[in-house]
Amino acid sequence: MAYDLAIVLPTFNESRNVGPIVDRLENTLAKALGGIRYEVIFVDDDSPDGTADVVRLLAERHDNVRVLQRIGRRGLASACIEGILGAAAPFVAVIDADMQHDEAVLPEMLRRIREENLDLVVGSRNIAGGSMGEFTKWRVKLSHLGKRLSLMGVEHELSDPMSGFFMVRVSAFERFAHRLSGIGFKILLDIVLSAGPGLKIGEVPYRFRQREHGESKLDMVVGLEYFELLVDKHLGNMVNVRFVLFGMVGALGVGVHLLILSGLLRIAGLSFATGQAITTFIVMILNFVLNNSVTYRDRRLRGWRFWSGLITFCLACGLGVTANVAIANEAFRRGVPWVLAAVTGLLFTAVWNYGVTAMTTWRQERRSSEKRARQRMEAGALQAGRQGDKEMPAKTM
Ligand code: GDD
Ligand code: MN
Repeated sequence: MAYDLAIVLPTFNESRNVGPIVDRLENTLAKALGGIRYEVIFVDDDSPDGTADVVRLLAERHDNVRVLQRIGRRGLASACIEGILGAAAPFVAVIDADMQHDEAVLPEMLRRIREENLDLVVGSRNIAGGSMGEFTKWRVKLSHLGKRLSLMGVEHELSDPMSGFFMVRVSAFERFAHRLSGIGFKILLDIVLSAGPGLKIGEVPYRFRQREHGESKLDMVVGLEYFELLVDKHLGNMVNVRFVLFGMVGALGVGVHLLILSGLLRIAGLSFATGQAITTFIVMILNFVLNNSVTYRDRRLRGWRFWSGLITFCLACGLGVTANVAIANEAFRRGVPWVLAAVTGLLFTAVWNYGVTAMTTWRQERRSSEKRARQRMEAGALQAGRQGDKEMPAKTM
């Protein structure tokens, strides 16, 4: 059987929502437009609550449901991209698994994308008939601010570029898929910025609903990822975003260093050598903590790994700084102007520190997720999922 439509649902800790959403999709799609033939693809990032196991159980009863479980990965946007590319249908709808998006508008989206020969239909909260629902005031504001920033330099008219609910024509998607950044939460924005002109877009209103189970993953980090997405879209052909973040943390470190050092020299009256040594130590720790929680938040080191990471970080950066001084001195001695000599040394250190700590301190760790999965199996998460899946539909219908 060929599918008319694929539904891609990114999930992270949604074990209590996946059962009900599958039922809702069936209720809406099976009879609409003379019977839509659809497949359901969950893309799960190895959720600790065992979401993927729950979907596999659902798949035993529903031929059209499957899960793509990603190990060692995190990210809403990249999950959507992989789900879309894994679909067999010519059209794919991306919708949250927590039932905040209104699945009832899916048939209308499909009708429009086909009849008007569109490439993209966006579920919008900002046109007549749509609504932000129970969004808190600050999130409405944030959404509007993001909207203003996001379409900088793009001529597309979109009332809700921050929406996570849309339908796309796969043949159009394949044309720009390699240009996508896949960073963070804002997959629709990524699509629109990557596609360039010529994308035929329509909008359908919907009302954003309240979440019933689980919690939102939108936090400070997601805000940061939004900034990363914009950096990547504008500078991504030249530099790696992680390197930009690492560099920004480093630059911040230099500022803090000067501040602390001046305090130690002027107020505490320490000698330059002592002050410099103490400050270097403090700033190195600060940089490690910042990089660990921002630049490498996806591989954040915890427990004893935090401390061993701190040691490798300090060793690597210590060497980098020593080399910096040596290189800058040598260049200066050979007649390179001092600014250029200093910048050369700094650049070398930045690249060295980044490269070496990426290979040592924040090397991809496979064992920890395996351990977690084993614990989950032992704790019988599968059993819990089976029960959860039985009781859920009754509650929501
Ligand atoms: N695979 C995967 N990986 N899925 C994720 C991740 C992740 O790292 N983070 C979140 N998700 C899944 C959630 O499980 C949920 O199904 C969906 O993505 C949306 O996440 P929420 O945390 O519920 O986001 P929100 O409700 O605050 O915001 C959503 O709706 C807004 C309005 O459309 C997002 O889609 C926003 O981008 C959107 O603006
Ligand atoms: Mn949500």
